[in-house]
Amino acid sequence: MAIRNMRIEGDDILRKKSREVEKFDARLWELLDDMADTLKEQNGVGLAAVQVGVLRRVFIVDVGEGITEFINPRTLATGGSQTVLEGCLSFPGQWGMITRPNYVRIRAQDRHGKWFEAEGEGLMAQAMLHESGHLDGEVFKEDPSFRPLSEEELEELNSGE
Ligand code: NI
Repeated sequence: MAIRNMRIEGDDILRKKSREVEKFDARLWELLDDMADTLKEQNGVGLAAVQVGVLRRVFIVDVGEGITEFINPRTLATGGSQTVLEGCLSFPGQWGMITRPNYVRIRAQDRHGKWFEAEGEGLMAQAMLHESGHLDGEVFKEDPSFRPLSEEELEELNSGE
């Protein structure tokens, strides 16, 4: 287990499409364990493999109920809508409001290659969709609905932490 270097804005890898995972081996498990350490250290809600420089379709999410690992995820359904505050560990300090579905159902593989389905609502849906976007090289702040916080709002946010 180790903390990996975060890739941040300006690194072209964040725009690239990640490839499917084919081998569910010790190397993948090490990546997943390191991603968990890195997410914890960064105090984040979600992390995609590309954010630590690995172009594989892998992300993890932890909204406070433990980590769920998603490998080769497919979005099966989305529903509803929520406008919520969002940031990204690869774009430090760049908070804004974004409109996303309020519900998502994803089919993915676990670390042993077994398929499962997971549903998310609210923050969980937001995180699952944000991280899925990373796998296709999407950047949250370029979403048409994204509105960056003003400096005043940012100040308020920071003083609240
Ligand atoms: Ni992100």
